[in-house]
Amino acid sequence: MLTLQRLTEEHGPAVLRFEIENRAYFARSVRDRGDDYFVHFAERHAALLAESDCCFHVLIDDDGRVAGRFNLVDVAEGAAELGFRTAEAVAGRGLAKEGVRRVIALARAEYRLDRLTADAEVRNGASRAVLRATGFVETGPVERGGQPCVRHVLELSR
Ligand SMILES: CC(C)(COP(=O)(O)OP(=O)(O)OC[C@H]1O[C@@H](n2cnc3c(N)ncnc32)[C@H](O)[C@@H]1OP(=O)(O)O)[C@@H](O)C(=O)NCCC(=O)NCCS
Repeated sequence: MLTLQRLTEEHGPAVLRFEIENRAYFARSVRDRGDDYFVHFAERHAALLAESDCCFHVLIDDDGRVAGRFNLVDVAEGAAELGFRTAEAVAGRGLAKEGVRRVIALARAEYRLDRLTADAEVRNGASRAVLRATGFVETGPVERGGQPCVRHVLELSR
């Protein structure tokens, strides 16, 4: 069974393992975090937990391993931006869709948000498929980090 948990200090080692094990996999579709991220992971993890405008979550499997990360950042005025990544070992099994659905439910019921946005690179077919399947609507092109992306929006109040 998988549980979606709000990120805590205790998740640090499992999150680091997830990021190390999947680094090459993630780098095939999103920008690599860079060596510094891994060298200074503990400080960065602590800094994330201190962020007041973010809600970070991990999808945890029965063995206590991180299967995915689902984050709401830049939470302000009823809106937030969604980001997510799941482990290569469980790719294509619907985990990303499941995690996004659970975060949407939290965004509605617990965080009381009205709107989520997510930018996916044009070439990131899997990410766009996940967003489409979970109800997001494409609203147009945007550029992120020099890459052509598609903005997706989900109105939660409807
Ligand atoms: C994108 C990502 C989260 C998908 O995770 P996942 O657990 O494999 O996703 P799911 O199994 O829930 O769904 C994947 C969907 O993408 C589809 N898909 C996979 N590769 C695809 C491709 N190249 N083009 C189009 N669709 C694709 C699958 O068919 C599936 O859709 P379907 O069930 O409707 O057929 C994962 O690949 C990942 O972490 N990638 C790196 C980080 C990233 O890109 N994050 C998103 C940033 S916006």
